[in-house]
Amino acid sequence: MAKDKPAGDFRYDTGEARVPWAAVGEHLAADDLMRIVEFLARPQSGQEGEYETRLSAVRDALDSLWGVSSPATKLTLGNNVSQLEEEAKAFMGCKYACFLTNATAGFEVVNQYANVGPGDEVIVPSITFAATMLYPLQAGAKVVFADVDPNTVNMDPADVERKITERTKLIIPVYIGGYPPDMASIMQMANERDIVVLADAAHAFGGSYYGKSAGTEAHFAAYSFHEVKNITSLGEGGLLVTDLDFGQYFPQARFLGLDPSKQIPNWLYDVVSLPGKYGPAVPGNHSSTEIQALALLGQLGRLQAIIDQRRANAEYLTERFSEVEGIITPPMDSDDIKSTHHLYLLRVDHELIGQDVQVLKQKLDARGVVQIPHFGPLYKFQICRDLGYDADAIAATCPNTEMVFNHQFTHLPLYPLASEQLEYMADAVIDAVEEMKAGK
Ligand SMILES: Cc1ncc(COP(=O)(O)O)c(C=O)c1O
Repeated sequence: MAKDKPAGDFRYDTGEARVPWAAVGEHLAADDLMRIVEFLARPQSGQEGEYETRLSAVRDALDSLWGVSSPATKLTLGNNVSQLEEEAKAFMGCKYACFLTNATAGFEVVNQYANVGPGDEVIVPSITFAATMLYPLQAGAKVVFADVDPNTVNMDPADVERKITERTKLIIPVYIGGYPPDMASIMQMANERDIVVLADAAHAFGGSYYGKSAGTEAHFAAYSFHEVKNITSLGEGGLLVTDLDFGQYFPQARFLGLDPSKQIPNWLYDVVSLPGKYGPAVPGNHSSTEIQALALLGQLGRLQAIIDQRRANAEYLTERFSEVEGIITPPMDSDDIKSTHHLYLLRVDHELIGQDVQVLKQKLDARGVVQIPHFGPLYKFQICRDLGYDADAIAATCPNTEMVFNHQFTHLPLYPLASEQLEYMADAVIDAVEEMKAGK
């Protein structure tokens, strides 16, 4: 019988049997691991000779290790995934946590919990990443775009209130760059109307909001460990958390509804629907691997140090920019609100400067400070037009969005930059803004 407690994909967990059902990973060899080592640890330029010497020592070590070991018995949904979920629950102070393929998969599960479908409305902030709105569109629901608060570029609760209708099933506030929206107001109006709130906390793992882990003030929160996030499960990964009883069904929501505790006669398991808020929902497959979980477990212990370094970078930029008329600095951390400082929100007062952020972006590009335009008004995308959304009519209901997007904001990176790079970036922004003020 299985030695270890199964985490999710229990079917092949036959452990120490004389003839196990499947020798999981039987075709893996030392060479396959070596490829991963070579992919993850590439030579620094000028260090190629030393790199080759050390790499061949690793190759020899792996070959000899393989001679005295067997492949892992579980590659997906095993003990490492369970351990990650246990540690995430303890770290976040929540009842249920589910490690899955990415944050978008977590969004899908919550949309299924809310039984989002044709005739329903889902409110998202107008400025976010496409992932926030795609499942409601897939499900045939109407996406309603709430205007943003220019100070944070997060959802404006006052506009959410204006746009709630009897059909609103779900509200998805986004923590852009890691800074929380006004969740107290959003939760109050949602709870009064029995509307589900899903925190798109893709950027916000490790932040805090009035003494709670950022995101857990919502009914559900989903975090991303995609490669560009503060910590990553080797390129892709997401975590979905909740305190609601529905969390008991996370294993089924993640893996096709398979339920070993409810066997049909003569079979190992039953396949169940998910008990959505308004009726049954059909699950999908969002399973994640042991290796992704292991990578994340390692980084969890370093998360606070990573965020602290990012915060120091953000504070440095704010200190430099607050001396410059025409640059609007973002809110910094307080006792109640702590960002993860995933991105630095840079805004200019375009009226005072006499030119807008599009000019600043070009000037920064020319100085080698690369601008990656991540977050724009979703209603401008072709997919919305194809589905019959009227971009101009929506824009008219989102005046702050149009103003900050066209004239005011961009994001600067906050990853562990060398201090020269950070200083150079601050100088470049200040220099460019001074030029703009001089009409150049
Ligand atoms: C605001 C926002 N929401 C959702 C996502 C989707 O996360 P994932 O790639 O883990 O699905 C991202 C990813 O970058 C994001 O920036």
